[in-house]
Amino acid sequence: EATVYTIPVVVHVLYNTSAQNVSQAQIQSQIDVLNEDFRRTNSDYTLTPSEFAGSVADTEIEFVLATTDPNGNATTGVTRTSTSKSSFSTNDEMKFTAQGGKDAWDTQKYLNIWVCNMSGGILGYAQFPGSGAANTDGVVILTTGFGSTGNVSAPFNEGRTATHEVGHWLNLRHIWGDGNCSADDYVSDTPIAAASNGGCPSYPSKSCSNNGGFSSDMFMNYMDYTNDACMYMFTTGQKNRMRAVLDAGGFRSDLVT
Ligand code: ARG
Ligand code: ZN
Ligand code: CA
Repeated sequence: EATVYTIPVVVHVLYNTSAQNVSQAQIQSQIDVLNEDFRRTNSDYTLTPSEFAGSVADTEIEFVLATTDPNGNATTGVTRTSTSKSSFSTNDEMKFTAQGGKDAWDTQKYLNIWVCNMSGGILGYAQFPGSGAANTDGVVILTTGFGSTGNVSAPFNEGRTATHEVGHWLNLRHIWGDGNCSADDYVSDTPIAAASNGGCPSYPSKSCSNNGGFSSDMFMNYMDYTNDACMYMFTTGQKNRMRAVLDAGGFRSDLVT
């Protein structure tokens, strides 16, 4: 049994229309999905094909809306900011009050999640541990891909964009290694794949012969590009890679101490 890590979260809601000012229920639904997916209490993980079933992990990582703000005052863990920007791109403007967004809370102490409209069909993006400025650290999620109730849009209406982005934020690479059959995701129990999978593939679907003898890509992994309804597991190797970031000495260890 590993220590269960609990990560305090602040959700920054940015809205240009009232529909983008998402409900507390929508926000809570996303926290619930994160907890289900990271604790393997999601009901769909049992769909995992038997050749992968033994590696489905409870990461023993949990998420809770912050109850104390950076000044030590009580908070709901949610900020709401009206913006003149009808959409944002991946240039981090949503992370700065002076640019129509909302400044981060101390990124060493909180997981900052910005929820906003995005241009160009972008569902979300994340900053890897140690790979950028402290004041842009966190994840961004498209309003209609955030949570599993309220203003959400199929097929990204089950909260898995945040599961995927928080995976990146905890140092996970895409499962296909962003390359071909010789690219790695640095996780040994996820098979090599030639490219991303999208939609909802039928099992088995195998793209590389050198994949360790598995009969299929692990397209049901949260770090692939399949639909929310068709991704439902992290592996033990991914768990270990994520937890290393939170363990003593890890880049994000201050979040959980
Ligand atoms: N394209 C985004 C990324 O690479 C997110 C993909 C999320 N997929 C999903 N089924 N919700 O970070
Ligand atoms: Zn990704
Ligand atoms: Ca792998």
